Amino acid sequence: MIWPSEDDITELKKHVKQKKNKDIATLKEDSRQWIRTSWQNNLSYEITWLGIPIIQLPSDIIIMQELIFKVKPDIIIEIGIAHGGALIFYSSLLELLGKGKAIGVDIEIKSHNRKAIESHPMSKRIKLIEGDSVKQETIEKIENEIDPQSTVLIALDSNHTKDHVIKELRAYSKFVTSGSYLVVFDTIMPELIGLDGSQENWNEDNPLEAIKEFLKINKDFEIDDSYNKLFVSNCPNGFLKKK
Ligand SMILES: C[S@@+](CC[C@H](N)C(=O)[O-])C[C@H]1O[C@@H](n2cnc3c(N)ncnc32)[C@H](O)[C@@H]1O
Repeated sequence: MIWPSEDDITELKKHVKQKKNKDIATLKEDSRQWIRTSWQNNLSYEITWLGIPIIQLPSDIIIMQELIFKVKPDIIIEIGIAHGGALIFYSSLLELLGKGKAIGVDIEIKSHNRKAIESHPMSKRIKLIEGDSVKQETIEKIENEIDPQSTVLIALDSNHTKDHVIKELRAYSKFVTSGSYLVVFDTIMPELIGLDGSQENWNEDNPLEAIKEFLKINKDFEIDDSYNKLFVSNCPNGFLKKK
């Protein structure tokens, strides 16, 4: 299979009418407003991927597709799967790429979700692991699924407290291969303060604060803000590239 290379894509994009001087301030403000209204109306709960509910913003789904196509990982680990829609999304991209496995981890995989995932055609590319993401036994189960030669990409989307995300970053960063990414979801939390279901302490207690702590001592990773180009995102500054 011959896919377009990075150079091919850069060349093709020369023929696309991208705007050079974007109105960044308005894009940021309007996106913030939209994300707040969307949160207030639970719009993220409206969509499905190949029939399975996925709790993501459509723009983040598109961006994850670009990232996965670029990295072409052998293993995608999703921590926090809920109904499984993102896991099905990741595994369907691996199926198109003709390789790989998506490992889905959740502290509780409800029986109706497990049934829907395990009976889905994409289940052939999925391994489900039930357990607390920061417990040693869970981490060992994941490690046993990873061939040392694999290119590994990780999405953290479980418990979004700062403490928990720091623990996940420390535990899982070692699995990410050089040139691949660790994507931390829900760094948007401070922007949601004041809305139903939000908490006043989200200014300090959020995944972005965990990233800041993590990057102070972990110099192997850097934030790649090119993946925030659509502005409407649950993970601003959440795309960490392993150098
Ligand atoms: C926001 S939802 C995940 C949404 C999903 N990634 C998607 O795109 O549809 C968060 C999930 O994290 C799980 N979770 C919470 N704490 C966890 C932990 N300590 N370990 C593993 N999973 C956890 C919850 O059970 C829940 O299903």
